[in-house]
Amino acid sequence: MKAALLHDFTGEWHVESIDIDEPVGDEVRIEVRASGLCHSDLLTATVDRGLTLPVLCGHEVAGVVTAVGPAVRTVAVGDHVTTCMAGSCEICALCLSGRPWLCAARTEGTHVLERPAGARPRLQLGDTPVTAVAAIGGFAEEVLVPERSVVGIDAAMPFDVASILGCAVITGIGAATNSARIKPGDTVAVIGCGGVGLNVVQGARLRGAARIVAVDLSAGRLARAAEFGATDLVNAGEGATVDQLKQMLPSGVDHAFEVVGTGRTLQDAVYALAPGGTAYIIGAASAPVDLSWITAQELLGGAKSIVGVYGGSARFKHDIPRYVQMYRHGVIQLDPLISDRITLNQISATYRNHDRNDSARAVLTF
Ligand SMILES: NC(=O)c1ccc[n+]([C@@H]2O[C@H](COP(=O)([O-])OP(=O)(O)OC[C@H]3O[C@@H](n4cnc5c(N)ncnc54)[C@H](O)[C@@H]3O)[C@@H](O)[C@H]2O)c1
Ligand SMILES: [Zn+2]
Ligand SMILES: [Zn+2]
Repeated sequence: MKAALLHDFTGEWHVESIDIDEPVGDEVRIEVRASGLCHSDLLTATVDRGLTLPVLCGHEVAGVVTAVGPAVRTVAVGDHVTTCMAGSCEICALCLSGRPWLCAARTEGTHVLERPAGARPRLQLGDTPVTAVAAIGGFAEEVLVPERSVVGIDAAMPFDVASILGCAVITGIGAATNSARIKPGDTVAVIGCGGVGLNVVQGARLRGAARIVAVDLSAGRLARAAEFGATDLVNAGEGATVDQLKQMLPSGVDHAFEVVGTGRTLQDAVYALAPGGTAYIIGAASAPVDLSWITAQELLGGAKSIVGVYGGSARFKHDIPRYVQMYRHGVIQLDPLISDRITLNQISATYRNHDRNDSARAVLTF
């Protein structure tokens, strides 16, 4: 099958033929129909974090099941499914407590979603094993993944919008609804309105936020944010974000989401807070971010919090089918999140141009 591989960390993908194994145990083989391009994959492709090359990115997959291992119980051949980057072991104390996004095995670095060491690799380029990011590897015609990373979806769901459920949507809507638990009437700032940030905006709208301030450098993405429910727009290229925001909301906001992945935008999120407010770190930075600009006393005095949010605190097997129903009944929008439909050969160019245009999510379609 064809797959777009990384052979180094320079942000260039190469389309090649690789071998994919048959499913064993709880594995599911899926014919990929659509696969989203998350910003996290660009980070994987440009920062050497010790992954063994060649690397296969892509974790937002929708497709059709073509084969299942003997232990698979929840999906069958012919089912329409999506994958999720937040697959978990399902048996550790944190999973059993209803918080699979904190799965001890994942956070402690045990690769519960991989085949055991010494087993035949799921994917190979000739004789060389291929590293599939998040044990998915969605920039390919097919994926072979554990059932724990897969959920069935309604067959009427279009594949392109279904693909982004497993990261952009669960992360964004989940951050606003599960992690932040925004209350009706709360005030919100969303800094960075790409694929994930637009979903934070629509999650804040779902929770009844009174003011949703969207912040971005791109006028086109701000226009998209307004479509998703932003009440106020701040162009970060036209003056200091916090100054512009405080002209609109002098006391600051109850919730500020950092969805870019830089120290500067995290600082903006914290300084945008009203007393008692919380800043949520969603963006993944390419290098360690220093926090010495804030003191414990400032946090204490203003009763402010800074928290990290992974995967929208989602129980994806529960949440994704609900998002499918919400989409089908017009409660959430997904179509305007897809700005480009591309082929495997266009991944490098699409990422190169991403920051220079007003695109939201680009999706590979097959
Ligand atoms: N925490 C998680 O579980 C999780 C999950 C998925 C993605 N992420 C991370 O979330 C971030 C966003 O992902 P995405 O796919 O939406 O990326 P994206 O590139 O589509 O969106 C980023 C947005 O930030 C804007 N931006 C850049 N600099 C800015 C600035 N100084 N001020 C305001 N806006 C600015 C860009 O114009 C763009 O619209 C990435 O860092 C990604 O790695 C985290
Ligand atoms: Zn992602
Ligand atoms: Zn677990």
